[in-house]
Amino acid sequence: MTETELKQNSALRDAPIGVFDSGVGGLTVVREIIRQIPNEKIVYFGDTARVPYGNKSRETVTRFSEQIVRFLRTFQVKTIVVACNTASAYAMEALERDCDIPVIGVVKPGARAAVSATKNGRIGVIATEATIGSQIYTRYIQELKHAVSIYGKACPLFVPLVEEGLLEDPVTDEIARRYLTELIDIDIDTLILGCTHYPLIRSTLGKIMGPKVTLVNPAYETAQELRRMLGRMELLNEEPPKLGSNRYQFYVSDKAEKFMTFANSIIKYGILSAKTIHIEKY
Ligand code: DGL
Repeated sequence: MTETELKQNSALRDAPIGVFDSGVGGLTVVREIIRQIPNEKIVYFGDTARVPYGNKSRETVTRFSEQIVRFLRTFQVKTIVVACNTASAYAMEALERDCDIPVIGVVKPGARAAVSATKNGRIGVIATEATIGSQIYTRYIQELKHAVSIYGKACPLFVPLVEEGLLEDPVTDEIARRYLTELIDIDIDTLILGCTHYPLIRSTLGKIMGPKVTLVNPAYETAQELRRMLGRMELLNEEPPKLGSNRYQFYVSDKAEKFMTFANSIIKYGILSAKTIHIEKY
């Protein structure tokens, strides 16, 4: 569908937004969407059976992402938000090519925010091995501004630490110090939290980097871009969904109970249920 066709399709205004991630981390993006455009309905899928994506190949992450998009489209979603940085790094091109509704990833908005935040032109990116290896942040940042130096650092231990709930813990502190020391030494003034889980340890990261370093959370920027895009296409829901209309629906590929406990600690909305589905069917 073209932008004009989408505009003319007023039934879509009431349709939900599809959001997906490799697991629970994308809830940091859902939290921002709820804050910034509270009238929207959301269908979320977390691939808890196949997480992490950060150490998998481009082909595998793309195949998983395509399955998830097929699943989300069964809800007639009006747009798809790829909340996972690794999926945004690896699968965006394929998803954009195959979808006739808008698809938004988290990398471009994060890159844009970092370029407007930096003053000394030295930007750090922390993310999974896949995202750093893909050089996607470097590419987007340099498309926006050539005279910027970008320093990437993979921080693979952060995801399991967050999943274990060690958000403020001496172990997380120690590991963060080891990862971040080299970024402090090269005097970056902006740090992109290029993985869904990292905003949850923002206070630890901020403490170590110090007050002169701006931390960029792509989740925040992504929600802003989503609001702008839906506004431009006249697809923003003007009124809150009617009671009982399944405002927020959560699906996972494994361990719905564990997901719900985590989800309720991040989103203070009172998520009532999450369902397990067999994603390989899609
Ligand atoms: N959601 C992933 C990301 O933002 C982190 C977890 C994973 O490796 O799957 O890159």
